[in-house]
Amino acid sequence: MLPGIPLTGIAFFTLLSLVSGVHGVAQTIVKNDNPLIYYHGRWDLSPGTWWAGSGFKLHIEGLSSLALDLGPHTTSPAVLVGVSVNYGPFNPFNVSAGANDIPLAETDLVDGANVIRINSVGWQNNRVNLESITLNPGARLVPYTPSQLVFQFIGDSLSAGQYLPIGVDQAWPFLTGEAFKAEHVVVAQPGAALSDIVSYGNVHGLSYEFFRTEDDGFYYTTDHNYTTPWDFKRDVPVATHVVIHIGANDSAQNVTADAFVDTYLKFVARLRNIYTHQPIFVFTPWGWPQPEGPNSYYYDGRYAQIVDSRHTMGDQQIFLVNTTGWVTYADVFPDNNHPDIAGHQKIAGLFENWLKNWGLKPQNHWATIA
Ligand SMILES: *[C@@H]1O[C@H](CO)[C@@H](O)[C@H](O)[C@H]1NC(C)=O
Ligand SMILES: *[C@@H]1O[C@H](CO)[C@@H](O)[C@H](O)[C@H]1NC(C)=O
Ligand SMILES: *[C@@H]1O[C@H](CO)[C@@H](O)[C@H](O)[C@H]1NC(C)=O
Ligand SMILES: *[C@@H]1O[C@H](CO)[C@@H](O)[C@H](O)[C@H]1NC(C)=O
Ligand SMILES: *[C@@H]1O[C@H](CO)[C@@H](O)[C@H](O)[C@H]1NC(C)=O
Repeated sequence: MLPGIPLTGIAFFTLLSLVSGVHGVAQTIVKNDNPLIYYHGRWDLSPGTWWAGSGFKLHIEGLSSLALDLGPHTTSPAVLVGVSVNYGPFNPFNVSAGANDIPLAETDLVDGANVIRINSVGWQNNRVNLESITLNPGARLVPYTPSQLVFQFIGDSLSAGQYLPIGVDQAWPFLTGEAFKAEHVVVAQPGAALSDIVSYGNVHGLSYEFFRTEDDGFYYTTDHNYTTPWDFKRDVPVATHVVIHIGANDSAQNVTADAFVDTYLKFVARLRNIYTHQPIFVFTPWGWPQPEGPNSYYYDGRYAQIVDSRHTMGDQQIFLVNTTGWVTYADVFPDNNHPDIAGHQKIAGLFENWLKNWGLKPQNHWATIA
């Protein structure tokens, strides 16, 4: 309201018509600060996404249409998002600053309330600056209840879904989270080492970046060329399981094995301030597959040493996941040695079995039923 202008019937009508559809019935505008939007991953205050996989989930009654109204910090010309209706597959859409209709197939929608999940899929050019969400007249947000299982994944390109058409949404961490009907946050930066060193265009390593809101892409942006501490109180609920797969780029940058172990142990000690008792799973490398002959490995035996050191300190809630043999040359793109779509599915399947043998059961159903 402009100051001094009373809210007359006419003014009220004008306000309504601003948000009216063709039939003159008010559409439902959900502003970005609506507490019924379940945000996950890392968002800055604009609010905008960083890191592959950051997004939001909605539980909506009476839904037939949905549009995203995105602000100026959205990646230009477009950012790829994955959209899942009622726990179906994540379909890719390019969205841009301004209004974006998200097509919802009528056959995917159910009577009653529907669950819509949307996330940024890329490890770069991944910024979705959410201003509001426009729903059809009569649609209404109801609470989304997160799963009681919450995975926090930490890694590099091998976890971020680099080279996959739908990015992280096709990567093994995401697939594992889905298979367990869990919430899942992936903080993974292609090219980055764990050591806080410059590596393949990253100005920081994960031992620094994990504690920040922005991924390493901040350095290359003009509208947000800085990084801010991540407030872990915003991760709701806090992770119940932490998975780390890192070291490929420390090795590529010739970080010595002793220095790597030292950095890793300091990192785990810092994680324990946040995840005080949660199981931490330490992946060994699956190695770089070769056209012929065995995979090439790095830091042989050192991941076991890290886990053993923690046990010696009295931390029994840390476990080695031996991934030797999980990935062969048939599972990777030959030109970059990263797992392809089927390769990521294979890794997810192997890790899911590993977790089940360890004692973790998938949830019987999602906590918010569509
Ligand atoms: C999104 O845009 C990129 C770049 O223009 C294009 O290559 C890609 O095919 C688009 N994807 C979809 C799902 O529209
Ligand atoms: C390190 O990062 C680069 C850039 O993302 C990637 O191409 C490479 O495969 C990674 N790992 C190694 C061991 O070089
Ligand atoms: C971001 O800031 C750093 C210095 O802090 C500078 O070196 C870099 O060029 C800047 N990047 C952009 C895209 O402005
Ligand atoms: C790491 O060491 C190898 C072998 O000595 C060398 O070829 C390579 O250039 C080094 N890489 C870096 C990033 O220093
Ligand atoms: C990992 O598994 C491989 C293959 O089964 C085995 O040779 C290796 O000893 C195991 N490593 C550890 C640390 O258990």
